[in-house]
Formats: sequence, structure tokens, C-alpha cells
Amino acid sequence: MCQCEQRRRRNGEKRRGRAQGRKGVVTHGRTSFSTHIKAEQVRKSKQKREGRERQSCRRKMVWSLLAVIVGSAVVLYVLYTAVQRSSWLALLWHAIIFEWVLDFVTRTSRPQRILKAVQKNATKGDPESVISAIDHYCRHKEWAMNVGDDKGLILDSVLTEVNPSTALELGTYCGYSTVRIARLLSPGSKLITVEFNPAFAAVARQIIAYAGLQDKITLVEGPSGDLIPKMKERFGIKSFDFVFLDHWKDRYEPDTKLLEDCGLLKKGTVLLADNVICPGTPEYLKYVRNSPRYESRYYKSNLEYSKVEDGLEKSVFLG
Ligand SMILES: C[S@@+](CC[C@H](N)C(=O)[O-])C[C@H]1O[C@@H](n2cnc3c(N)ncnc32)[C@H](O)[C@@H]1O
Repeated sequence: MCQCEQRRRRNGEKRRGRAQGRKGVVTHGRTSFSTHIKAEQVRKSKQKREGRERQSCRRKMVWSLLAVIVGSAVVLYVLYTAVQRSSWLALLWHAIIFEWVLDFVTRTSRPQRILKAVQKNATKGDPESVISAIDHYCRHKEWAMNVGDDKGLILDSVLTEVNPSTALELGTYCGYSTVRIARLLSPGSKLITVEFNPAFAAVARQIIAYAGLQDKITLVEGPSGDLIPKMKERFGIKSFDFVFLDHWKDRYEPDTKLLEDCGLLKKGTVLLADNVICPGTPEYLKYVRNSPRYESRYYKSNLEYSKVEDGLEKSVFLG
């Protein structure tokens, strides 16, 4: 080996020794060439192993993230489908959870938001535009317990067929069905609507006035059970031609019997009951379907602004 080559090797060994010394490898004097090669191999394989671990860690993170995104999408889709199809989940979500969250966030109530949507999007004195504004708001922004557009068409057709001079509505809420009914009444006909929640009644009054139907409608505040016996005396009503039942479901049957007892139903009076499937009125259905005093028929539809099954029961009082 020439001197040059020897010097080059010595210098190389010195450099490797210094490098190992920096990494904490204790070298005592002259380190053999093979030890350095081994250390170099160990270092390289360690670097490779660390690189592989980093890569697999990154891959795991990407897969975990993907799994979380796909999992959340599946859970949301299943929840959305369930809310669309299951009656109790739909009511729990729309009428309790979502309403509570929106009330909390906006510091307003659902009826107030519906009123705002009417004032923003409907034309004063035009009941059709009021109905459309509420339907649009409740279908696209926020569900509400109005009879809604689908069952509303059945309500329209039964009402047109009956063409009542005197009509009673139990359960006004924001006045959606009140406006829907009153707009189809012939001149001189009258609608009495009953609501026991003063906040709902206040909104309903404004919506009814916005639609320009205040002269056809009398909104009475209080519980139906207290007001039905006072109808004749307070409003000079002999009997009703049409009754729309849309208040709390456990009141349908007792209030129907009360209307009978107070002589407010006559032969041919039509009772139209909403939500007979969802949330359901089993006692009422059992009564009108089995009583010889009624001829009853079910109109299948769906819960307002959803795909959940619901329907209206039309029962003609036979006297
Ligand atoms: C389903 S909402 C009525 C919806 C309305 N008919 C519509 O389609 O736009 C039921 C309403 O009935 C009212 N209500 C429930 N039970 C009542 C009762 N016994 N007397 C008076 N109002 C009642 C509630 O406060 C609620 O506003």
C-alpha cells in the first residue's frame, strides 16, 4: 500500500472516530475498521427502521382520520334516515332537541321565528303567501307542528266539501291551519280557534292579521275543556258544521264527548282529526271507529314536513 493510501485511510478512520465520539460512542485510541463499518451499518439500519416507523405512523394517522370521517358520515346518515322514518325519533329530534338548541342559540322561540319568516317573505293580506312562507320555512329551516302542506291539501278538500258556516279548531299554535281553514270559508262564515298557550296565541294573532283574516276568525285563549261548555253562551253558536281537532292528543276523545254533551254537534257535522298515527290518538280512533254515532274514514299521509306516516281521520256525526 502506498503512503498516500495509508494517509487517506488513517484520515478516514480519524473522521469516523470523531463522528462516533460525537454520538457518545467511546473510542479508546485506535478503533478497528470493521467496528466502524458495523457501527455505520447499525446507524443506517436504525435510520431505515425509523423511516419505516414514521411512514407507517403517518399511514395509520391517515387511515384513522378516514375511518373517523367515514364513520361520522355513516352515523349521521343513519340518524338522518331514522329521523325521517321513525315517528318517535322524528318528534324527539324536531320538537325537543333541535327546538331547544335553536331557542338557546337565537334567544327566540320557534313561533317567533315563524312569525319573522312570514313578515319577511309573505305579502300582507295574502293568505296563500302566508301559508307558503310558513311551509317553506318549516320544510327547509325548522320543523314545526303545523298540519303542514301535505295533510293541508286533505284539510282543504274536506273543508271545501263541507263548506261550513261555523267551524271550530282546537289547537291554534301559530295560526297556520287557522289561516288555511279561514281562507276557504264562504263570506259570512265564522271560525273559532282555541289555544291555551298565551305566547302561541300572541304569535297566531299577528299571523292571522298579516293574512288579513282577522274578521273571519275568533281566537279564544284557554283550555278546550273549559271553553267548549261556554261556546253557546259566549259566541251564540248553535252547533258546528266542522271541527278540526289538532290540540294535545289525549284531549281528542274527552273533548269530542264534551262537544256531544254540550249539543255542539248536529247530524252531518264533520270532525277532522290530525296526527291520528303520529304521535297517535288510539283512544279517539277506537271511539269514532266503533261508535254507531259516527261514520269514520282514514286519510293516509305523512307527518308534517317529513316522511313518517301520519294521517287524518274524518268522522261524520250521524246524530
Ligand atoms: C299541533 S299544535 C296545533 C297546530 C295547528 N293546528 C296548525 O296546524 O297550525 C297543538 C296546539 O294545541 C294547543 N293545545 C293543546 N292542548 C290544548 C287544550 N286542551 N286547549 C287549548 N289548546 C291546547 C297547544 O298549545 C298547541 O299550540
